[in-house]
Amino acid sequence: MESGGGALSSTEQQLIRESWQKVSASPLEHGIVLFTRLFDLDPGLLPLFQYNCRSFSTPQECLSSPEFLEHIRKVMLVIDAAVTHLENLHCLEEYLANLGKKHQAVGVKAESFSAVGESLLYMLEKCHGPAFNVNVREAWTKLYSAVVKAMSCGWDVAEKVE
Ligand code: HEM
Repeated sequence: MESGGGALSSTEQQLIRESWQKVSASPLEHGIVLFTRLFDLDPGLLPLFQYNCRSFSTPQECLSSPEFLEHIRKVMLVIDAAVTHLENLHCLEEYLANLGKKHQAVGVKAESFSAVGESLLYMLEKCHGPAFNVNVREAWTKLYSAVVKAMSCGWDVAEKVE
């Protein structure tokens, strides 16, 4: 069996598309669930979000700032793009590598993306309840890993090139 980067089966693609529909109908609302969970799992990420050199003292304060809500929208748009291009995720690779680079530049560690993945699964489970079964979870885990893998290329390159 191929390890990592394996294409999603058509069943997995279908499960992802179906489960994304409900989320994409109100992305901000679901993105807030995702990031609330993320700050619960890793409060250390809070200081990375600074707008006009001002950092937030509580997750609540961050979650009510217009700039941060914009970031949530951006995250949801990237996931939406991945869902739209499930059959050909390669076309997003360059964009995602660049996005990885930008995140490295603002001080995000590649490891932090595992807590984001857990938070994504948490949000999907909250949204779908028991319908979010092991197969749907598995499909999303694969997709998210592919996105993170593509983003980490940005980190690797930046580190190697000095
Ligand atoms: C550890 C979690 C994350 C942290 C701490 C983080 C932090 C940041 C910060 C500080 C910025 C610049 C300010 C801004 O645009 O709001 C940014 C930009 C951005 N982030 Fe994140 N981010 C995280 C996860 C993600 C994820 C998972 C995605 C999408 C899959 C994402 C997508 C974006 C996009 C699209 C931008 C705008 C990039 C541009 O200006 O071209 N972020 N992020």
